Amino acid sequence: MSHEDFPTESPAVVTCGLPYANGDLHIGHLRTYVGGDVYARALESVGQETAFVCGSDMHGTAIAVLAEQRGVEPAELATGYHEQYRETFPEFGVEFDSYGHTDDETNHATTREFVQTLIDEDHVYERSIEVAYDVAADQSLPDRFVEGTCPYCGERARGDECDDGCGRHLEPGEIESPESTITGNPAEYREQEHRFFRVSEFQEYLSSFLDRLEGTANAQNQPREWIEGELRDWCISRDMDWGVDYPGDDEGTDDLVLYVWVDAPIEYVSATKQYTEQVGAETFDWGEAWGVPEADGGFEPFASPETANDGGEIVHVIGRDIIQHHTVFWPAMLRGVGYGEPRAVMASGFMTLDGEGFSTSRDRAVWAQEYLEEGFHPDLLRYYLATNGAFQRDVDFSWEKFRERVNTELVGTVGNFLYRSLLFAYRNFDGVPDATASEPVRAEIEDAVDAVRDGVNDYSVRQVGEAVTDLARFGNEYIQREEPWNLTDDDPDRAAQVIFDCVQLARAVAVLFEPVAPGKAEELWTQLDEDGSVHDTTVEDATRAPSGDLREPTELFEKIEDERVEELNEKLEERVAAATDGDETDGDDADAAETDETETDETAAADGSDVTDLDPVAEDRIGFDQFQELDLRVGEILVADPVEDADDLVRLEVDVGVEERQIVAGIKRLHDTDDLPGTRVVIVANLEPTELFGLESNGMLLAAGEEADLLTTQGDAVPGTQVR
Ligand code: MF3
Ligand code: ZN
Repeated sequence: MSHEDFPTESPAVVTCGLPYANGDLHIGHLRTYVGGDVYARALESVGQETAFVCGSDMHGTAIAVLAEQRGVEPAELATGYHEQYRETFPEFGVEFDSYGHTDDETNHATTREFVQTLIDEDHVYERSIEVAYDVAADQSLPDRFVEGTCPYCGERARGDECDDGCGRHLEPGEIESPESTITGNPAEYREQEHRFFRVSEFQEYLSSFLDRLEGTANAQNQPREWIEGELRDWCISRDMDWGVDYPGDDEGTDDLVLYVWVDAPIEYVSATKQYTEQVGAETFDWGEAWGVPEADGGFEPFASPETANDGGEIVHVIGRDIIQHHTVFWPAMLRGVGYGEPRAVMASGFMTLDGEGFSTSRDRAVWAQEYLEEGFHPDLLRYYLATNGAFQRDVDFSWEKFRERVNTELVGTVGNFLYRSLLFAYRNFDGVPDATASEPVRAEIEDAVDAVRDGVNDYSVRQVGEAVTDLARFGNEYIQREEPWNLTDDDPDRAAQVIFDCVQLARAVAVLFEPVAPGKAEELWTQLDEDGSVHDTTVEDATRAPSGDLREPTELFEKIEDERVEELNEKLEERVAAATDGDETDGDDADAAETDETETDETAAADGSDVTDLDPVAEDRIGFDQFQELDLRVGEILVADPVEDADDLVRLEVDVGVEERQIVAGIKRLHDTDDLPGTRVVIVANLEPTELFGLESNGMLLAAGEEADLLTTQGDAVPGTQVR
């Protein structure tokens, strides 16, 4: 693709999909916001000038419907949640440079301007269509006010979205067998005049735009199918009160507001404008970032469809349910007003909780506030969300997995390395010994810096996060191998060198950890007695020499005990039971989740209507060649020793025919170690060795499910036999 690598000379804007202001936030929602925040911080740390913006989505029928149910005004309802989100995001280190909302004056004005330009440029026309109407309530039924059958896939759909089926946007009038959500009656279709945006005119442009678009593969590929067929025009008006008034003095538009998906993405622009108002255009120029025509020499309505308009680096971070809006409707709008185009769209997968969808109505969620009240540091969750699977994949959260990853990676690898090294330096050298970093250590840090740079350019939040764990793992191996504690008497110079290297690595960890764990990175920065805030460093600072002094180190991370997990699981179960009991009509769990009106999120059960314990099969197929890269072998367990102090780990010696291997496996609580020797298992033999609790693990055992049911052979294949 034709984009220059980050960092570029142009300003960047990273946005997160606007949350509808109609419900409490749970950790499933946070995946996109933490992902966006990590990405924006990483972008800054590689030297890109970046604004990170978002806001609350106040309009639309989801909010109007809920407000009606609760008997309050939509504005009141939405403002309450908006305030809550504004406070909650920073509590998780998600710090937007600007966080507005779609109902503020700036957004009303920007939206009016946008739509007026579209009208002036003849991108909008009037057409009479059939819209759903509730005769008893005597009102039209836009979007969420109507439910029925999706004409494309036959699933049950709600208004403008087929969110349990094919995921398509539905135009007014498209839904089949419409029913009113106000009275439950079958709806009638009635004629009404509406306004349409000529998306169809942008087909050629959109096709070349998608060729240029970067980001996650799902966002690049899915829209192809939507634009390849007949691209349909998009109804941008709605017959209701709550929203941004349809602009202009066009006759017959008095009662119309704009469709929520018009003014919502425009808030990305409005929030950037507000940021410029705060910091001044010399610091951040919103017009340059968005490629506003006046800012770069005039509007070119007839620009060739193959060329992008000038502009900055716009990166949209969203949930995968709103790809169509960000890769079709929104780019067409931007093009229609002569702005630049998004450079990338990063679409995150959904999140499940213990293998099932989050459900607001069943109280089946880990709420954002609840997580904090349990006393967990936000950076633990940030780390988990950022590194638990590729961004576009669906991932699962469980307290057990959370504990496991915190204990092995953050406590066992990162925290352990830092504390060991810094304490040794503090006690034995009263600070940092005099030396310069050795070549292999410098090279390792540079590799980590490259991994962060590549992570940024590949839109991989996970890679940014893992670069740090990998570096700490290297540090652990290094200090373990060099044993500075045995060198202090016989070879003090060597001891000094090793410890200097370790402090240098610790400093690099602080710098590179900032995007993922800003709070913990800052604590470490203080322990290293460095000046200023680690937030203001760039990746180049990772190789700069340490300050020379140290404060007394403390452990950065604390182990989560088993009992905590049990307690948290019980709490959740009790809550779900209570919520489900109280609701007679929700006999069937799956239905309860589906019919939940407040379920607005991108985190409902992964792909479809069935909520079960099983994850859906991964969307992305792999080729046979890719499969063949795995070297799977039969092995026989010879020795199995529980690893002391580790809750889950067992050290195994495994005969794999060609050699004997040490493998560390997380099966302590699930298997009796005495029973294991003699068991034939299947192992991944060509997995990169790693270190767990200071022990090398050279390969991986295959096991099924939470009970770690070991894969074994049915006949008598001997150790070393390849599995295909
Ligand atoms: N509120 C919408 C949702 O939750 C997202 C709006 S994103 C924007 O699905 F692009 F419109 F801003
Ligand atoms: Zn559908």
